[in-house]
Amino acid sequence: MTIAPRIVLSSDHAAIDLRRKIADHVVAKGWIVSDIGPTTPESTHYPKHGQAAANAVIAGEADLGIILCGTGQGIMMAANKVPGIRCGVCSDPFSARMIRAHNDANMLSIGARVVGDALALEIVDAFLDTSFEGGRHATRVEMIEPQDA
Ligand code: RB5
Repeated sequence: MTIAPRIVLSSDHAAIDLRRKIADHVVAKGWIVSDIGPTTPESTHYPKHGQAAANAVIAGEADLGIILCGTGQGIMMAANKVPGIRCGVCSDPFSARMIRAHNDANMLSIGARVVGDALALEIVDAFLDTSFEGGRHATRVEMIEPQDA
């Protein structure tokens, strides 16, 4: 028996609808989804949602994370402040494949005001269906973590 991989999703208010579509899509792919909200459309602050998802990944509660805000940028910046998180904003499937294959990204960020829903799902597929290549890329990924001053 194989254990289904787990993913955590979060967003700010700008991306609730797309986040729900992604959740349904990822469940259909066989992932166990933890959608940590928010669930209501009031304006909220993207850093806390990005950090909550990042903390879930680092705590081992999820294997990967997908986060969204209007541009994908602010929530990505917040997630990347959590040590051990490697999160890229992607607006195309090629970049989503490459952040897994070469950068061992453990989180993907998408801008709900940047890409349409169909493209967003292609980006999600590219991210989830790609594995880290290791080798020379592992050396470089190790160098991403903060260096001692
Ligand atoms: C919210 O209006 C917007 O600033 C936010 O969703 C995001 O785009 C920030 O990076």
